[in-house]
Amino acid sequence: MKKIDRIGVLTSGGDAPGMNAAIRAVVRTAIYNKIDVVGIMRGYSGLLEKQFMSMQSHSVSKIISYGGTMLKSSRCPEFHQEKYRRIAVDNLNEAGIDALVVIGGDGSFRGANHLDKDYGFRVVGIPGTIDNDIYGTDFTIGFDTAINTAVSAIDKLRDTADSHNLVFFVEVMGRDAGFIALNTALATGAEATIVPEIPADIDSLCDYLLLERRKNKTSGIIVVAEGGDLGSAAEIAAKVKEKIPNYEMRVTTLGHIQRGGAPSCNDRVLAGTLGYEAVNALLRGMSGVMVGQVNGRTAFTPFEEACSRHNEINRKQYEIAHILSL
Ligand code: ADP
Ligand code: F6P
Repeated sequence: MKKIDRIGVLTSGGDAPGMNAAIRAVVRTAIYNKIDVVGIMRGYSGLLEKQFMSMQSHSVSKIISYGGTMLKSSRCPEFHQEKYRRIAVDNLNEAGIDALVVIGGDGSFRGANHLDKDYGFRVVGIPGTIDNDIYGTDFTIGFDTAINTAVSAIDKLRDTADSHNLVFFVEVMGRDAGFIALNTALATGAEATIVPEIPADIDSLCDYLLLERRKNKTSGIIVVAEGGDLGSAAEIAAKVKEKIPNYEMRVTTLGHIQRGGAPSCNDRVLAGTLGYEAVNALLRGMSGVMVGQVNGRTAFTPFEEACSRHNEINRKQYEIAHILSL
């Protein structure tokens, strides 16, 4: 195995709180092991454009508490094409980078897997996305902060819902996974939750809303995950309005607020641990894997598996949220 003298680190896909803490951990662990670190700006885009910067210990001072990513992130459509990935590998070789740490979601790992499989370039992934949908880790970096952000926003909406006897349809992120929705619904005592993984229909939702009204509930929160069959929160609310014209409701889409802000303690701890483990995995000769945590222990999952499978939401939690909203 060729000795690793220099590693690169990049963040790719949607930013997530805690990515900075992961960058810091990668940089400091590498320096501890006397390895040079190169920060690659703007994910795979910066790799193609040779946007490289040498990272020292002080380069990552204080970033542990900042949201976003100091290396910036991007979606890079060119990376889907082999000819551009070839350029990326040439750029890595030219810069003397022997191995790469990719912090991102499953899309980013698909790109990283190509580098490992097609060119034998050594790369380890760290799961960074608010969606928590990556197989091979119980939690992704950013998820904990995102759900806390959503919970505090929904608590505030609840005040207005109560004061004005309103029902709020609140849309949360998650791409096509219901983790954020389910957890925030349970934590805010939402009256109903709509997630992509569990079929729902407008007639049953309307029956449920009318039943709630008969129980003299004057306000309510319906948490809607983006990406479901029934459409966005606004579309669902419009369909409800068609069936129950006198129903008073409002729609709030929380949007990118869920991706920002200072990372929670849990996200910082996870990011620090996975950043440390990623560098050590490379030093032990591992490649083509994502490092995650399963039941509190470090776990390595081949990129193929991390990308082809999805974490399952906890359906029991869905049932509990429903029962507790009585
Ligand atoms: P995430 O990593 O958060 O899932 P994306 O799905 O947008 O976000 O992926 C991030 C980037 O990873 C894409 O913009 C693209 O550059 C790269 N990527 C995604 N899928 C592939 C693929 N199948 N092959 C090569 N690169 C990919
Ligand atoms: O993957 C993170 C995420 O925030 C998803 O929850 C959401 O569907 C998507 O990214 C939004 O992406 P963009 O910021 O590119 O619109």
